[in-house]
Amino acid sequence: MGYADTYARSLADPEGFWRERAEEIDWFEFPPTILDQDDNGAWRWFRGGKLNTAWLALDRHVEAGRGDSTALIYDSPATGQVCRYTYAELTDWTARVAGALHGLGVGVGDRVIIYMPMVPEAVVAMLACARIGAVHSVVFGGFAPPELATRIDDATPKVVLTASCGIEFDRVIPYKPLVDEGVTLAAHKVDHVVVLQRPQCEAQLFAPRDIDWRTWQESAQPAACVPVDATDPLYILYTSGTTGKPKGVLRDNGGHAVALNWSMQAIYDVDAGDVYWAASDVGWVVGHSYIVYGPLIRGCTTILYEGKPVRTPDAGAFWRVISEHRVKSFFVAPTAFRAVKKEDPECRLKGAYDVSCLKYQFVAGERLDPPTYHWLQDNLPGVPIIDHWWQTETGWSICANMAGVELLDTKPGSPTLPVPGYDLRILDESGQECGPNQEGAVVIKGPLPPGSFPTVWGDHDRFEEAYWSQHPGFYLTGDGGYRDEDGYVFIMGRIDDVINVAGHRLSTGEMEEVVAGHPAVAECAVFGIEDADKGQVPLGLVVLKDGVNIDAAELQAELVQRVRAAIGPIVNFRTALVVQRLPKTRSGKILRQALRKLVDGVPFDVPSTIDDPTIIDEVRAKIEEWRA
Ligand code: COA
Ligand code: AMP
Repeated sequence: MGYADTYARSLADPEGFWRERAEEIDWFEFPPTILDQDDNGAWRWFRGGKLNTAWLALDRHVEAGRGDSTALIYDSPATGQVCRYTYAELTDWTARVAGALHGLGVGVGDRVIIYMPMVPEAVVAMLACARIGAVHSVVFGGFAPPELATRIDDATPKVVLTASCGIEFDRVIPYKPLVDEGVTLAAHKVDHVVVLQRPQCEAQLFAPRDIDWRTWQESAQPAACVPVDATDPLYILYTSGTTGKPKGVLRDNGGHAVALNWSMQAIYDVDAGDVYWAASDVGWVVGHSYIVYGPLIRGCTTILYEGKPVRTPDAGAFWRVISEHRVKSFFVAPTAFRAVKKEDPECRLKGAYDVSCLKYQFVAGERLDPPTYHWLQDNLPGVPIIDHWWQTETGWSICANMAGVELLDTKPGSPTLPVPGYDLRILDESGQECGPNQEGAVVIKGPLPPGSFPTVWGDHDRFEEAYWSQHPGFYLTGDGGYRDEDGYVFIMGRIDDVINVAGHRLSTGEMEEVVAGHPAVAECAVFGIEDADKGQVPLGLVVLKDGVNIDAAELQAELVQRVRAAIGPIVNFRTALVVQRLPKTRSGKILRQALRKLVDGVPFDVPSTIDDPTIIDEVRAKIEEWRA
């Protein structure tokens, strides 16, 4: 069946379509119900089915006689190591760590926070939680202690798993002091912090709270897989929303396993034995779905890369890994290739490697800008460059060119067409469907397919309010875009206060809270502006309190430091300009979209709701002065 028929069938008969996909994985008990609604009225897939995600990802491959196949390759230019783990080895290791978690009193439904660099223990930790029905929440290592504390307070974990340090290019970043601070800041008190000591930096342990990882796992008895319900939670992953408080996207077990298993074949065209590489981080959804769960559930070899696109040691790093491990499908954020392109514009370093194994190049995480698309096309002749669009909330692609179903023609700037299961529409402000080439809000008619989130952890009202209330019956993606005359989808960027910096999703609302907390600042606006390398970076406009006299450079340095300390270095907040006033509507709302266009030099009509149009000219002059 080609793409069009598969897509049509998925919408005409969702239960039949997903029942068949569910039959493609192994259940302890096949679900008696395919789709229904829970007490909150949210759509749920496969209720009553019993399974275990770690068993699907590990044990069943061993039972099927594939124990000697390579499950995980840890490739770490940061530490100069390449290690391979078979399915049998990874299963045994995971069972032992699961037993060690049991030993700390972690059981079904308990939360565990994982704040770790890209080391195999991070993967094992996730799978060990899944094995015993515990719920993991991985926090990206680039987040500062207050962010970790917010997540600890929301997820209320029994245990935090961490490592003594991460390695960024050639810099060792001690993680343990960050964890100590985060744990101290949090109101919820965790029972234990388990620390993987890395040779690059020894962490100080504080007994009895802190435990050494190696001693802990060595003394543990292996734990068996616990059957859980399809609708039981597998993980919480926090993502930026429009407010300062991140949203805990909840993923359940059954829909997730079914969707990811199918996506590996249908979207990425890989199967058991193929080598698949997603060069992301386990702290992001890409890492969850396509470093850990998807490839392992499908029986592929997955790569855990502790390195960067450049300077580890050079801009040929990606080609080296692809060639050395014979990668078939490679997935990375466009920003990573922009970094490669900047250092090796002619792509000369690729010449040293045999990358003939590479059949597909996938990109996502931010818009694939046409120059990067063309650069990839020119330098990877014969390899389809596949842009696909998705979000933490969905856990897998909303739009893609489905390599394993039918490869369609691509159009630069478009992630092609909606994936089966996603009934995508473009709505205008009044909720009417837009015509071809007319830009509006990108929404998906409910139910979302399996794998998508059924709620926000601990706050179902927020799930309803943030995602389902604006256009009842439709999930609001938060992205704006349009479909052309052939139905191709074009995602033009967020229509809310979320920005995307080097593939990292961040909230400008949260940055504003931090900037506004500075004693000299009366009010501020932070918004994303275009950046050639990182896609977007935040820019702040601040209005000083009356009577405050502070040097602008000094203030900027203090604000930059504040944002780093409160949210983390990944924010890349570097510029704060002092202005006399901010452009607002008569009701007091800051005109962020107008500001963004102003800074990017995009023509725009001054909104009729503006309080005082002359402010736009003042701000424009300030920005021109800054640019000069
Ligand atoms: N732990 C600690 N600090 C981290 C970190 C981590 N895991 N990741 C990033 N940082 C720090 C960096 O060291 C840097 O600190 P500095 O300001 O002191 O120099 C800062 O955060 C900004 O990092 P970043 O914007 O990522 O820039 P970079 O130069 O370090 O790396 C890229 C550039 C392109 C390699 C990187 O941004 C990248 O790989 N992005 C892709 C993200 C991704 O995969 N997203 C998922 C969607 S597919
Ligand atoms: P995250 O939840 O971190 O994966 O970020 C999701 C957001 O990243 C989306 O809402 C989009 O704004 C953006 N995004 C992800 N993939 C793409 C893509 N292929 N094209 C355009 N934007 C993308």
